[in-house]
Amino acid sequence: MIDGKIHKEEVFIVREMTIDDFPEVFHLGEQLFTSDYSPSMYRTWDEYEITTLFNSDSELCLVAEVEEAIIGFALGTTVEKSNSSWKYGYLVWIGVRKGLQQKGVGDRLFNEIRKRMVDQGVRMIIIDTDAENEAGIRFFKKHGFNNIQQHVYMTLNLARTSSRGRRKK
Ligand SMILES: CC(C)(COP(=O)(O)OP(=O)(O)OC[C@H]1O[C@@H](n2cnc3c(N)ncnc32)[C@H](O)[C@@H]1OP(=O)(O)O)[C@@H](O)C(=O)NCCC(=O)NCCS
Repeated sequence: MIDGKIHKEEVFIVREMTIDDFPEVFHLGEQLFTSDYSPSMYRTWDEYEITTLFNSDSELCLVAEVEEAIIGFALGTTVEKSNSSWKYGYLVWIGVRKGLQQKGVGDRLFNEIRKRMVDQGVRMIIIDTDAENEAGIRFFKKHGFNNIQQHVYMTLNLARTSSRGRRKK
């Protein structure tokens, strides 16, 4: 990789994330998942996202690497609901370094995590992303995701209201 570009002769690999990768994955995520990326703040990128998901299922924490540089990651987990016999896979974060996107790295990461989820008995994969994330939505649609469900986020600014919910005068 020269000047942050993947050259044709170079092949990136997808492998499981290790503890040594945490700082690089964290900083890559900081560049991708800024407050612009997700204004809702429902899920915020921080170091606990990496450690929590790694502790919960390290087989579903993957990185894409070229010449020992991490260029992308996919972090997921599985969920079993008490009211359903189905096992769900939740792809929580997938990201590819800016400048190296649209070169098939995301596809490879997704295909690998999907395969691993299937091996774990997952019957449905869930993702969520911002409604404005056109590239992300197109990416997930390409991989067969559909049934988009809208979700409403509301905020209550406590600095501007009294304890009874009334506006301060
Ligand atoms: C979504 C993301 C992971 C895709 O990774 P990528 O390596 O660029 O994806 P690929 O090169 O494998 O592209 C696969 C498909 O995604 C779609 N796609 C990817 N980037 C796109 C873009 N900028 N505009 C439109 N479609 C896009 C295309 O359908 C593409 O298939 P095609 O090349 O056959 O048309 C990447 O854009 C990214 O990191 N985005 C920021 C983080 C994010 O939004 N994550 C998703 C929610 S957690």
